[in-house]
Amino acid sequence: MKIAVGCDHGGLEHKNAILEHLESRGIKTENFGINENVSVDYPDIAVKVSNAVVSGECDLGILVCGTGIGMSMAANKVKGIRAAACSDHFSAKYTRLHNNANILCLGGRVIGVGTAIELCDLFIDTSFEGGRHQRRIDKITEIEKNQEEK
Ligand code: RB5
Repeated sequence: MKIAVGCDHGGLEHKNAILEHLESRGIKTENFGINENVSVDYPDIAVKVSNAVVSGECDLGILVCGTGIGMSMAANKVKGIRAAACSDHFSAKYTRLHNNANILCLGGRVIGVGTAIELCDLFIDTSFEGGRHQRRIDKITEIEKNQEEK
């Protein structure tokens, strides 16, 4: 299990705490930055983490920006990415169980570091349920495919 992690300036403190926490759990991580408090454009980080996930280099991704929303919008433009912006435990769990989300997006200005870490644990420790949910994921993939053909 290897987790790709990235943030913009709205999520630096959270990203660093998440990295430290995952490493303390013995989970391998790949840090896509940023590592200093400088203003950056979140799509530049989102695409790096997304590419690491779709290539198989990493199993799942975690992205943190101010709201989690910009990161999720950008990540969801990458074919094969199902990114979910979550700020509660139920969503972080069910987006794995039902949506087979492969990137969790968090808002550094929305939730505290402690909640962020708990959401990451839930996301990583929950597996896709499959069954009827697979049919729905297949329909998302079909939408992606149809868009490509346009
Ligand atoms: C950056 O100021 C902010 O817009 C970004 O972190 C994020 O919240 C975008 O969705």
